[in-house]
Amino acid sequence: MKRIKLEIAPGVETEFVDRDRALAQVVEWAERGTRFPVVIFGPEGCGKTAFLRQAAAVLRDLGYDAIYVDAAHLHFTAHTDVADVVKRLIDATAETSGVAQLKLANLAIDIVKELLARWGRRKVAILIDEAFQAIGIEKAGIYVKSLLNLIEYPPRSYERIVAIAATSEGLSRREISRHRWGRLMMMWNMPKEGFQRLYEKLPGPKPPFEDVWRWTGGNPSALAVLYENKWRWDDAVRAFLEQRGVAYIIRSLTPTERAWLEEAVGDPDTLFAREKMGLLNKLVEINMVAEVMGRYQYLWVDEPPPERDPELGVGRNAAWQTPIHREAVRRALREV
Ligand SMILES: Nc1ncnc2c1ncn2[C@@H]1O[C@H](COP(=O)(O)OP(=O)(O)O)[C@@H](O)[C@H]1O
Ligand SMILES: [Mg+2]
Repeated sequence: MKRIKLEIAPGVETEFVDRDRALAQVVEWAERGTRFPVVIFGPEGCGKTAFLRQAAAVLRDLGYDAIYVDAAHLHFTAHTDVADVVKRLIDATAETSGVAQLKLANLAIDIVKELLARWGRRKVAILIDEAFQAIGIEKAGIYVKSLLNLIEYPPRSYERIVAIAATSEGLSRREISRHRWGRLMMMWNMPKEGFQRLYEKLPGPKPPFEDVWRWTGGNPSALAVLYENKWRWDDAVRAFLEQRGVAYIIRSLTPTERAWLEEAVGDPDTLFAREKMGLLNKLVEINMVAEVMGRYQYLWVDEPPPERDPELGVGRNAAWQTPIHREAVRRALREV
């Protein structure tokens, strides 16, 4: 299987590393098609985009016309020889109007319909990245429904359709799970072994891997941030804290919420209690904490995180997205 090229940090090229189980899952989807659109949630920077792009390449190798669209950032990759499709995607991503993102998200669906109806393709894959960010969380459900319609009421008979959407908008999960239109799955940061291989790709002297693991929890984007901060953990946390306005968030909390947050720094599962749901939602909304599903293999793309990992801030029901997120909150709580 050919692995796509990625840039983990400016000037540092790697190929797509590890995620073997996830890629085997793609092959399974390719063999049967996805009966429901697969909707993948995961922490920011855990590797969803890298995975979708690698998955598109895998699907192409398996005979699919595969369209990858990053609606929020107006990017696409089209594994098809239908020039008209490519041209329309180029035009759509060149557009600068305020609704360009929404249009691109919808165009992706139209294009799959056309690949089936007009171009007679029998195996088509649509991979949508950050669609809900582009179209608004309240429309996430409807969007997944239109993906499902594509599968259930295609414009013409087909052999197989694979539809996958990925998002780091934790809150859209509520919107999606109200209906049975999609198959909700989660993806987590990288497992330790694979992550070590990525760590080894970074040039120059570096701190011991065990330290980097504790600091990043296997999140490739956190790894890149550390690298760019010359491996200075304090600077990486500080930059995160300032850029994300963590102090502002903490000031907006009531004294009770603040006490709960302090508790959650020690153990995120403490947030999973009725009276604390408001705070949990707030932390999910600002992408600090993720609500995590049970560790059943069929709910997870690639390897699920461990049941609990207090060192990395992973609980059974809730988890800090990475140790950097947790550390930024811990520091801001001390300072504000
Ligand atoms: N399996 C992987 N192998 C190599 N690089 C990866 C892998 N997963 C992620 N990366 C790199 O880590 C960074 C963050 O990943 P990305 O896919 O953008 O995360 P997400 O979409 O979940 O926010 C990117 O630079 C990406 O290229
Ligand atoms: Mg992404």
